[in-house]
Amino acid sequence: MPLVAEWLNDPEYFGVYNPLVQHSKPELEKEYDKLTPETKWFFIEKKDGSKVGSIFHFPLGKLLEIGYSLIPSERGKGYCTEAVKIIVDYLFLAKDIVRIQAHIDPRNIASWKVIEKVGFKKEGTIRKSFFARGEWRDMLVYSILREEWKEPKILTKTTS
Ligand SMILES: CC(C)(COP(=O)(O)OP(=O)(O)OC[C@H]1O[C@@H](n2cnc3c(N)ncnc32)[C@H](O)[C@@H]1OP(=O)(O)O)[C@@H](O)C(=O)NCCC(=O)NCCS
Repeated sequence: MPLVAEWLNDPEYFGVYNPLVQHSKPELEKEYDKLTPETKWFFIEKKDGSKVGSIFHFPLGKLLEIGYSLIPSERGKGYCTEAVKIIVDYLFLAKDIVRIQAHIDPRNIASWKVIEKVGFKKEGTIRKSFFARGEWRDMLVYSILREEWKEPKILTKTTS
């Protein structure tokens, strides 16, 4: 929890395309208590166990959406692409869903490059659909369908 509080209160952590927000420790604890099977938050860890970011999924209506962030010093090394591949494998293996989606600011090139590398397709732009930092922003909608994913890229299916 202290590491999560440190990251979420660091304006650098979510980059310039996300809202600027502050979270007190009690607020974060309440959010943690609200986590459900449809809303989960994971650390992105390197092989040596060090934590370099977070990746999460949450429902948007009946659909599942993902989001992610890395600490600035660990960006540009491919970790997020690997983490997105893993969460896509996990969600299609574990849940009876037909699609996974993400909303991305069109200026967030690193983010849409990551998601395109994993096979997400751009569906379109929702114009002025998100208010952050004093302006209405356009958002790109990306999705990957189960039939486009085809099979796990990193995780393997275990049978019991
Ligand atoms: C988005 C984010 C997770 C990307 O993860 P990453 O592992 O650092 O991604 P990379 O830096 O390897 O960038 C991926 C690609 O974008 C390119 N890129 C990165 N920043 C860029 C920029 N400002 N302009 C153009 N290209 C850029 C990289 O060169 C790379 O290209 P390649 O695939 O052709 O090699 C990371 O930048 C981040 O945490 N940003 C802040 C939080 C955020 O915006 N989250 C997403 C919200 S939707």
